[in-house]
Amino acid sequence: MTSMTVLGNVAAGLPEKDATWWRQAVVYQIYPRSFADSNGDGIGDLPGITAKVPYLRELGVDAVWLSPFYPSALADGGYDVDDYRDVDPRIGTLAQFDEMRAALHAAGIRVVVDIVPNHTSNRHVWFQEALASPPGSRARERYVFRRGLGEHGELPPSDWTSTFGGPAWHPVGDGDWYLHLFAPEQPDLNWADDEVREEFLTTLRFWADRGVDGFRIDVAHALAKDMAEPLPSQADLDADIWGGAHPLQDRDEVHDIYREWRRVFDEYDPPRTAVAEAWVPAHRRSRYASPEGLGQAFNFDLLEASWDAATFASIIDKNLALARESGASSTWVLSNHDVVRHATRYGLPDGTDLVAWLRSDGTDPLPDEERGRRRARAATLLTLALPGSAYLYQGEELGLPEVADLPADVLQDPTFFRSGGEQKGRDGCRVPLPWASHGPTLGFGEDRAHLPVPASFERFAVDRQEADTESTLAFYRRALAARRHLQTSETLEWLKNVPATVVAFVRPGGWASITNFGTTSVPMPAGEVVVSSAPLDGDRVPAETTVWLRLADAPVD
Ligand code: NOJ
Ligand code: CA
Repeated sequence: MTSMTVLGNVAAGLPEKDATWWRQAVVYQIYPRSFADSNGDGIGDLPGITAKVPYLRELGVDAVWLSPFYPSALADGGYDVDDYRDVDPRIGTLAQFDEMRAALHAAGIRVVVDIVPNHTSNRHVWFQEALASPPGSRARERYVFRRGLGEHGELPPSDWTSTFGGPAWHPVGDGDWYLHLFAPEQPDLNWADDEVREEFLTTLRFWADRGVDGFRIDVAHALAKDMAEPLPSQADLDADIWGGAHPLQDRDEVHDIYREWRRVFDEYDPPRTAVAEAWVPAHRRSRYASPEGLGQAFNFDLLEASWDAATFASIIDKNLALARESGASSTWVLSNHDVVRHATRYGLPDGTDLVAWLRSDGTDPLPDEERGRRRARAATLLTLALPGSAYLYQGEELGLPEVADLPADVLQDPTFFRSGGEQKGRDGCRVPLPWASHGPTLGFGEDRAHLPVPASFERFAVDRQEADTESTLAFYRRALAARRHLQTSETLEWLKNVPATVVAFVRPGGWASITNFGTTSVPMPAGEVVVSSAPLDGDRVPAETTVWLRLADAPVD
């Protein structure tokens, strides 16, 4: 089927009042700067996304989540926001946002935007005002300022370290220091401040009024902080204290904030949705995912898991139970803009230290690319068979590998700079997409790209894969099309008596997903093959392969 016929068959727009669309949605993450560049300046932009709506439609996703596109000096890839209610001029305009949103909606695709509430950028008008105001002033109350220690405040208020390396406090020259859990260009907001709270309600309404369907909440677990003196030491913070007792992470009060947000989401029909990026232990995740709170939370367990049937099965079981407990649906994520792409991860020996591997420019050890891609396809098909929503990261549908050998002079990630080059950071999964198998940027833009597109990406180019029915792109399209028809109620039943290397379950409607994690083929139950991640071996599931089947002998629902 060509994209024209698919588009022609789609009734324009979205079902108006569907309040449950998010529960089992396939959400495609766009990292706007690296998606498609419409004007040749080397930076992906909103018109670039609009131009690719037919591609997204044909891929078959239900929603897109856009990483930050707001004005930003890009100290942290746009997660340092100057203005929450505007578009970075290099990426587009608000009018172009509206056009993009309308085009996506007309194609039946919902729009999720990224909200970054833990910190603003240091160029935000509030932070500029805080810097221009004296210690103790109202302007400084919106952030987390503290007096320095030592006779003249020349020492930081505590020995805390930031996520990207180096100290978490930055001096402003008058004895005050401000807290930044991430880069110094990302000062932490003070969520005990009413004005801060109000401001974000305004921002949520601003985007909801513009037709945005949902929000992805950055660092959702860190907004509430207990800054009572004396401040604990970093060693205290590193102790494994969860359950609301950690001064900076996952405090119970954070949910008061999300209860207020929920009231805003529910002002809309259908209610706006949200998904929390909350790095908390699994049993604390349900609080973020509660219907009185954000409604859904990322589950990164599979993204962190090694290639092993028992590990996958227990993660699936645990997360389905957690989702039931919270009233949410589960989420499944194998890749995003913060981690080594899963096609590469799975080609590395289990237990590879990814930081050290990146330091070796991806050469020690050398990934087994073919095995990586084979396992990636199998893992993807497995996650797409699960109840709940699947979050895909741009480029995974092309089987893109991590670009581990980017030269130091093009790296942008603050992790690289803050670690003095010790850690390479996350740029290798943020390289622009290859849309065409020719040209200096392989169709991303014209002759330049903000991160170079390696020549080796030619074989992953969209135009090539569109011409090949065995390509990863063709496989993703088949899988998403099948899922659209098959996905029903949010339950599964494990298939019994399967080999230890197999993860197999049946979904309502009598279809099964069978993944063989092992290195030799296993028998397949009788049924009609719907889609498989690799060619089958007669009536057997080959090594490292997932297959979906309509079972001949399905258990009664
Ligand atoms: C999580 C985002 O995914 C990551 O890219 C960012 O660096 C941090 N939050 C800080 O905003
Ligand atoms: Ca551009």
